This record gives sequence, C-alpha cells and structure tokens, in this order.
Amino acid sequence: MSLPSDLRDRSILIVDDTPANLTLAVDLLEQQGLRLSVAQCGDEALRRVAFAPPDLILLDVRLPGIDGFEVCRRLKSAGGATAAVPVIFMTALTDVADKVAGFAAGAVDYVTKPLQLEEVLARVSTHLRLATMRTQLVEQNALLLRENRERREAERVLQQYRDSLELQVAARTAEVRELAAHRETTREDERRRIARELHDELGQSLTALRMRIALLRVRFGADVPGLNEEVRKVTELADRSIAVVRNVATTLRPTMLDLGIGSALEWLVDEFRKHSGLDCSLTLDLEMGGLEEPHATAMFRIVQESLTNIARHADASETTVALRCSERECTLLVEDNGCGFDPVAVGPQSFGLRGIRERVLSLDGQIEIVSRPGGHTCIGVVLPRTPHDPGATSALDGQFGSAMADNPPAAA
Ligand SMILES: Nc1ncnc2c1ncn2[C@@H]1O[C@H](COP(=O)(O)OP(=O)(O)O)[C@@H](O)[C@H]1O
Ligand SMILES: [Mg+2]
Repeated sequence: MSLPSDLRDRSILIVDDTPANLTLAVDLLEQQGLRLSVAQCGDEALRRVAFAPPDLILLDVRLPGIDGFEVCRRLKSAGGATAAVPVIFMTALTDVADKVAGFAAGAVDYVTKPLQLEEVLARVSTHLRLATMRTQLVEQNALLLRENRERREAERVLQQYRDSLELQVAARTAEVRELAAHRETTREDERRRIARELHDELGQSLTALRMRIALLRVRFGADVPGLNEEVRKVTELADRSIAVVRNVATTLRPTMLDLGIGSALEWLVDEFRKHSGLDCSLTLDLEMGGLEEPHATAMFRIVQESLTNIARHADASETTVALRCSERECTLLVEDNGCGFDPVAVGPQSFGLRGIRERVLSLDGQIEIVSRPGGHTCIGVVLPRTPHDPGATSALDGQFGSAMADNPPAAA
C-alpha cells in the first residue's frame, strides 16, 4: 500500500521513549514522503505540539514522566489547533483497558505493538484524510456562517429600507387624501355659493322680469294689438328660464341638504324613482336629529353616486337605501338586485367608486362593497361621528341584507 499523493508532505510526531524499536515504521513512513519528528517524553511532546502542531501524533502509552493518556488529555483540553491534531495510541496487543482509556482521553485510534507496518500506514492514511476533511468542513462552516451573517445584515438593511419606504408612502397617501378632502370641501362650498347666487340673484331677477312683463300686459294690453300674445310667449320663456336656474342650482347643491340629511335623501330617492322608473325604498333611523357637516354632504353624495350607478349599470328592479345614525356613528346601506359586478376588477377609471371610497376614508370611515357578476350589489359605509372612533370598526359586521348573503365580501 502507498499513501495518496496529496497526503505525502504531512507531518507526524512520534512520541516514544525507545524510538530505536520503531526504526522500521519510521523508515516506511518516511519512504511515503511523510515528515517525521520524534519526542521521547510527554513534556517534550507537549512543547513541540505547542510550538508547531503536526498533522498527526503517534503516541506511546508508557512514557517517562507523564504518561500517554495524560499527554493526550492535555492536548485535547488545550483547544484550537492543538486539540484538533488526531492522536493514535501505540499500545501492546493485550492491553484492552489501555485501548479503552486511550479513546476516553481523546484518541481517534490505536495501533498495536509490535507495529504491523501495513496497518500503521493504513490507519495513518485514514486519519490524515479524515483530519483534512474535518478542516475543510470547519472552513466551509465558517464561510457559511459568514455568508449567513452577511445575508441577515443585508435583509435587515432591506427591511429598514422597506419600512422607511412604507412610512413615506403612508405619509404621502395621507397628504394626498387630506388634499383631496380639502378640495372636496372647497368644491362643495363653491357649489353651495354658486347655487345660492343662481337661485337668489338670477332666480330673483327672472322672477322680477316676469312680473314686469305681466304688468306690461295689464297696462297696455288693451291698447296695443298683439301685445297679449307676445307677453304670453315672453312669460313662457321666463318660466322656462326660471325652471332651468332652479334645476341647475339644485343639481349643484340641493337646498334640501340645508333642511337635513333626511329631507335631502327623501328628495334624492324621489328624483331617482321619477327619472329611473325603478322601485326604491328608503329607511331612515335618525337618532340625534340627523347628521352634521361634513358627514351629511358625504352621505348624500355617496347615495347620489350609488343610485346613479344603479340606474346606469345595474339593470335592477328593486333598490333599497337605509341610513341609521346613532350617537357614535352613522351606517349607510345601498342595495340593488341587479346584475352585480366584480369590485376587484373595476378599472382605474372608476372615479365614482373611488370618489366614494375617498370620501369615506377622509372621514375615518369604513366601506365595503359586496357584489359579484350575476349577484346583487350592496355598498356599506360606516362613518364615525367623532374622529378616529375605534368602536366603529366592527360596525359593518352582519349589516348586509339577506339577499346579499351568498355574495363573498370584497374590499372596495
Ligand atoms: N350597482 C351596480 N351594479 C352593477 N355594476 C356596478 C354597480 N356599481 C358600479 N358598477 C360597476 O362598477 C364600475 C365602476 O363604477 P364607477 O366607479 O361609478 O364608474 P362609472 O359609473 O363611471 O363607470 C361601473 O362601470 C360598473 O361596471
Ligand atoms: Mg358611477
């Protein structure tokens, strides 16, 4: 047998007080290219290993001074490179107790004296190979640990970056939402102002004009031929103009809103019935005498957009609107038994539903749209009456009508 070429330049320390007995073994190992050194007692062996740890130690049990077991124990308890050096005991064939004690002291193997050269070479070769593999494993493990540490650090940095991005996005979204809410309030104020001016100024002027024309007829009708007919035509024109002014003013902002959300919704539902020809029931449960601004306008606009959607898209035969206001919150449900739709699939151009959602969120409310193609549609909204009311979070639970029960909920 010969030693594999990659193990040839390894160093071996032989510890024996009568090295002359080992000449044959030493010769054989040197012929294989191994570098040998000899120590004749335990203390010398420990000094040599501490100075330059060999790749393997062949250790006799019986030595002058400290014996082989003690040498082995001290090497193993030294830690580091010293402890990692594999130790093979050299022991007499019959000394079973020695063999066991050698393993207990930390040896990896034993060879029996007198030494069998082929056996010594085979065991030395095996343990040099094992030690090499062990060193590689330790190195690989260290590399893995370092990579793992680096990966965890990279993940931590990434997570930090993600968290900060999320915070930025949340802050930006809140800003945009605030801006949208502010613009909505401004727009609503502007509508109210224009509606009032149209009604009070233009409406009054047209009414005055109509009265003056009527006076013309009273004063000169008998004297001027054809005047009565002209006055009738101009009066008709004035009436139509007054109706247009009222209509435009009402569309901008129904005056009924100033009478409270209840009256405004009654008017809205009435208009819906008239214009769509659909059945629509309205249920109002207004504890605390209705709703203050901006909640009243928000609820009104949400119902307005929902009814417009029903008229335009739902092909429904029945519609219900229910508004309930308690001291803490107000809940709105608008349901229809029409064709339904997939709320998740509505495109970015769905400004109606998006507007509803934004109104609700800007008032710290909750919205749920339950619908599916072929099923019915229910829009549920809860607005807390005091800002950031955590009690309102469960208010939508169990609110949907039985007709909607087979539709899975979907967020708006
Ligand atoms: N009650 C409803 N029944 C059926 N489909 C609806 C209903 N409400 C909304 N939709 C669907 O959701 C889409 C988005 O609505 P919306 O955001 O109001 O935009 P728009 O009405 O301008 O299309 C509609 O185009 C329609 O397909
Ligand atoms: Mg719409």
